[in-house]
Amino acid sequence: MQCYDSGILTQEVTKKEVLKKMPALLLQWYDNTRRILPWREDPQPYAVWLSEIMLQQTRVETVKPYFARFLEVLPTIEALANAPEELLLKLWEGLGYYSRVRNLQKAARVVMEEYGGKLPGNPALLEKLPGIGSYTAGAIASIAFGVPVPAVDGNVLRVISRVTASREDITAPQCKKGMEKQIREILPKNRAGDFNQSLMELGAMVCLGNGEPKCLCCPLQSICEGFAQGIAGELPVKAPKKPRRIEEKTVLLLHCSDTFALRQRPKKGLLAGLWELPSLEGFCGREEVEKWLEQQGAEVLSLRPLAGSKHIFTHVEWHMQGFFAELAEPLPEFFWADRRALEQQCTLPSAFKAYFNELGLKK
Ligand code: ADE
Ligand code: SF4
Repeated sequence: MQCYDSGILTQEVTKKEVLKKMPALLLQWYDNTRRILPWREDPQPYAVWLSEIMLQQTRVETVKPYFARFLEVLPTIEALANAPEELLLKLWEGLGYYSRVRNLQKAARVVMEEYGGKLPGNPALLEKLPGIGSYTAGAIASIAFGVPVPAVDGNVLRVISRVTASREDITAPQCKKGMEKQIREILPKNRAGDFNQSLMELGAMVCLGNGEPKCLCCPLQSICEGFAQGIAGELPVKAPKKPRRIEEKTVLLLHCSDTFALRQRPKKGLLAGLWELPSLEGFCGREEVEKWLEQQGAEVLSLRPLAGSKHIFTHVEWHMQGFFAELAEPLPEFFWADRRALEQQCTLPSAFKAYFNELGLKK
């Protein structure tokens, strides 16, 4: 009599066998080849927390100088809790996703009030703080406190999908839950933080996204099912995203006696409360811009078009055209920023980068 295995059971058994071999291979590779990063070698809770928040949507190389400057200016959770908002935004200028730094401060205030200024090591308590989700809680708890919990971000989802040749949609919440469970089962109890970081590191340096895994120099090649089946480049499977909404605008650089007009964005929504260049909705021609300025009561001395530009946010794209206008008198509804204010006081989002040169700012 023949005995049939169910296909699914065979797959599950294979996955477990494969994953069990992962920690030893990854840790050895991590010990030999990891990047020396400022938050890695002496993982203090505040520094690890800050690095994880900065790294959420930003690459390691970009984060490094911001991280150093932030800690220099605000060296403790207490200093962060008490910092004026303007300073916080300035320290974050160019990193984008500014709600990250606002939540960081909100969380610092909770830590001052509820935990005597010391970040808790318990992932469940960490996850209650503003801006900290299950990934970040796991990363802080494991890296800074040695708590054996998983930290599954997009890099880790990609690596695990490939190693186990999983075709599950990684944007589905159950998929992440499932992978957290699988990692929990193999997590080395004495080196949880290093193991989590070794997975992130493999995703960042070897098992790259966009269908470009460097399998030939990968420490997991011998156990990787995706490689064995020749399907690594097709994984992970991701449900397609909703297309971004496109907003067209005409950006105005209004100049008057060495100052430029800025206005503050609404307190809610995209780039909440940050400064911006004034703009009109849609692509306006020269006459429309001139007419609008005159309606505001401006005397326009000169007007010239600027190059167009694009900026991509998570859910929206800005397509911009620009005009530079020299005005005889400042218009009262704007804040007129001189060079010092532009450089040291007002935070102007990178969405306006294409116009920084005209404003006399470094890109
Ligand atoms: N991305 C997020 N956290 C990281 C870390 N600790 N090391 C490298 N890349 C990361
Ligand atoms: Fe990723 Fe290739 Fe390594 Fe598998 S062998 S983990 S697909 S880089």
